[in-house]
Amino acid sequence: MHTRIFLIGFMGSGKTTLGRKLAGKLKYDFVDMDHLIEQTSGMTVPGIFSEHGEDLFRKWESDILKEILRMDHVVVATGGGAACHNNNMTLMKQHGLTIYLQLAPEAIRDRLLKSKTQRPLVKGKEPDELLEYIKELLSSREGFYLQSDLVIHGINLHVEELLNAISRLD
Ligand code: S3P
Repeated sequence: MHTRIFLIGFMGSGKTTLGRKLAGKLKYDFVDMDHLIEQTSGMTVPGIFSEHGEDLFRKWESDILKEILRMDHVVVATGGGAACHNNNMTLMKQHGLTIYLQLAPEAIRDRLLKSKTQRPLVKGKEPDELLEYIKELLSSREGFYLQSDLVIHGINLHVEELLNAISRLD
């Protein structure tokens, strides 16, 4: 069994919820990248975007990933853009098991509309505009996401199914 598991995918794809459950089942630690960035910087993700801009957020995201690579027995919920910037995807693949939770743009939109998490990239977008934005961003990102060792449909995904898919890889 891999000792470092990275959950990858678009905002709202369930990385944090499933990641926490998966970590519980495996008795691993659970790390949420965004949460760690917030703890380390003393700022919220929307605050970082508005005060310093996305470029600095991406730098801090890559810095945090390097810290995480030193941890063991850990399930990591990555931020939706983490796999698509710098050489983060390559690093994650070299140091652990990467799993893409794949969802259709419509399902992502429905999840994001219900979500209480503040996400600067989608803030204030109306449902139609949001769907177009998701389609565009997903098509530019999916080339990265699809490099994952395992691609699994994220809709109605139960942790047991995820666990079974992981053990089939070993
Ligand atoms: C982002 C996704 C967010 C967070 C930031 C940027 C993105 O994480 O890192 O708002 O670029 O897709 P979640 O995927 O956990 O929402």
